[in-house]
Amino acid sequence: MKLSQILFSQGFGARRECEGLIVSGHVKIGGQVHDDPFEELAPEGLVFTVRGETWPYHAKALIVMNKPQGVECSQKPKHHMSVYSLLPVPLRRRDLQSIGRLDEDTTGLLLFTDDGALIHRFTHPKKHLNKVYDVTCKHPVTPDQVERLLAGVKLIDDPATVQAAACEVTGELTLKLTLTEGKYHQVKRMLAAVGNRVEGLHRSAFGALTLPADLAPGQWRWLSGPEAVSP
Ligand code: URA
Repeated sequence: MKLSQILFSQGFGARRECEGLIVSGHVKIGGQVHDDPFEELAPEGLVFTVRGETWPYHAKALIVMNKPQGVECSQKPKHHMSVYSLLPVPLRRRDLQSIGRLDEDTTGLLLFTDDGALIHRFTHPKKHLNKVYDVTCKHPVTPDQVERLLAGVKLIDDPATVQAAACEVTGELTLKLTLTEGKYHQVKRMLAAVGNRVEGLHRSAFGALTLPADLAPGQWRWLSGPEAVSP
């Protein structure tokens, strides 16, 4: 693949812009300037720098972020800043989408990709990918509430019954809830349905992937591929 095409595919702008970055000496590979936009390179495994910033080539992007509070999972947020503003420009240019959404006040593991088929695969209800939530409740969690969450509850305005795949009480006001679906405000609505109220919500796992402990709120990193989430 031509070097200019590689940059173009990774979100570094229009073809002319990519050629400009290359001919003006802003692109390095292995510490050496590569200033020929038409140089042929094998993209897989390629690591290059643009203006000193390191970029690994990814045919399709898959990113994990520790979503902070107070950001909306929308390209056009209404009340807060967009979670997309936490991603660098080349990733935004690649038209990354979040895989599902978290509420503005929910923190934790959020995935992004530019692979439409992967979004479909990871959000399809039949795939049954576990999503683990650390929930802080307003009222003490009772054994009856846990039993009902596991047995299945009816949400207001939704005829279907939803149940937790697992529910572990972790403190007087806290529990770890595992869901396989991703309905709108599902955790909050499930806790409301059993007579409690969510005061804090954090997603700690999605499929096989646990939120990396060293990923601070607002930070993101590349994942090696979909098998990191669903082997
Ligand atoms: N359930 C909710 O209620 N909110 C989230 O952000 C995620 C799951």
